[in-house]
Amino acid sequence: MSLQDLIPVVNKLQDIVTTTQLADLDLPILAVVGSQSCGKSSVLENIVGKDFLPRGTGIVTRRPLVLQLINIKAEDARKVAQYSEEETEVDLEAHLRKQTSKTKSSKDQVREWGEFLHIPKKKFFNFHDIRNEIENETARIAGENKGISRIPINLKIYSPNVLNLTVVDLPGLTKIPIGDQPTDIERQTRSLILEYIAKPNCIILAVSPANVDLVNSESLKLARQVDPTGKRTVGILTKLDLMDQGTNALDILKGNVYPLKLGFIGIVNRSQRDISENKLLEDSLFAEQQFFASHPSYKTMSNKCGTRYLAQTLNKILMNHIRDRLPDIKAKLNTLMGQTEQELAAYGDTPANLNDSKEGRGALVLSLMTKFANSFVNSIEGTSMSEVST
Ligand code: GDP
Ligand code: NA
Ligand code: MG
Repeated sequence: MSLQDLIPVVNKLQDIVTTTQLADLDLPILAVVGSQSCGKSSVLENIVGKDFLPRGTGIVTRRPLVLQLINIKAEDARKVAQYSEEETEVDLEAHLRKQTSKTKSSKDQVREWGEFLHIPKKKFFNFHDIRNEIENETARIAGENKGISRIPINLKIYSPNVLNLTVVDLPGLTKIPIGDQPTDIERQTRSLILEYIAKPNCIILAVSPANVDLVNSESLKLARQVDPTGKRTVGILTKLDLMDQGTNALDILKGNVYPLKLGFIGIVNRSQRDISENKLLEDSLFAEQQFFASHPSYKTMSNKCGTRYLAQTLNKILMNHIRDRLPDIKAKLNTLMGQTEQELAAYGDTPANLNDSKEGRGALVLSLMTKFANSFVNSIEGTSMSEVST
């Protein structure tokens, strides 16, 4: 068990918490915060390396999206690709897709896929289908209009190209209701965001666009409310390509403007034009690297800028954070298991498969947690506790 394996282990706990809705373990997590259109979705898509998030004007993210990125070995991804090709499919589109994918040699065919907690066992190989499912599932709970809901959608993405990371995408901060949005949309959004970022175990990813004065950054204002000393906030500065000519964000990136212990990282996402022209994500990631490497102000620090560096940094921050909180998580888990045991004892012997009843859920939690606790304790014991430097 290495430090890297801690993130998937905590993901499992996260699933139990979401499925049962019985416990709030306040697990270590990263949450993306920012005003509408500051580039939150773009940052997440860059980190995953795929287009898969709903797009549009207004509030698109209307439920929290708990995104669990799971790094798999390339050979395992190939096995899944072969397995899925043996499945019988009636869907014409899927059939055609399969035909085209078969033209590639199976050697370089590495598949990446998504799985939703609300649709167990179904693998989504087409990332456009993931986008549709997020949209449908959002509408199912939060309605077709512009309302928001606190109930999260859980999505796992398995890929050899991602680092282990668990990030929540939250609705963007809005000032003015648009269309048929409720008049108190700003208050609703704020309180939902605060629900996540107020927890001491949440690392806040505060996104601010570089073409707006940092003093006006909604995300930093909100982050400061719950993290006044800036010890668990990472600044993400997007749109560096859109700054006025002759200006640059060097002072911010070097930490001379706004104090955050975890620092600021500069990013260049795809522009609206790139998206309209269907520019490939991998091309834009390359363009981003070029931007920093050739920019007169940033080239000396280009190895500390951009999406790749951001993903590496977040992976390390999350691992170190989990490691630091392990004793606390263990203690909470024990308390919770004790409570659940007592509750169950009070009910007497009840069948464990009564999923709708509180007893059924309690029994489920207990069996999941017992199973989990064993592997968790084993993993902690086998883990090297040395700091991963960021
Ligand atoms: P969100 O509302 O915070 O999720 O923002 P999006 O990621 O949807 O981005 C909103 C718009 O800003 C889109 O048209 C993006 O193409 C554009 N955008 C985001 N980041 C950048 C950036 O770094 N540079 C440029 N030029 N455009 C960006
Ligand atoms: Na902001
Ligand atoms: Mg968005």
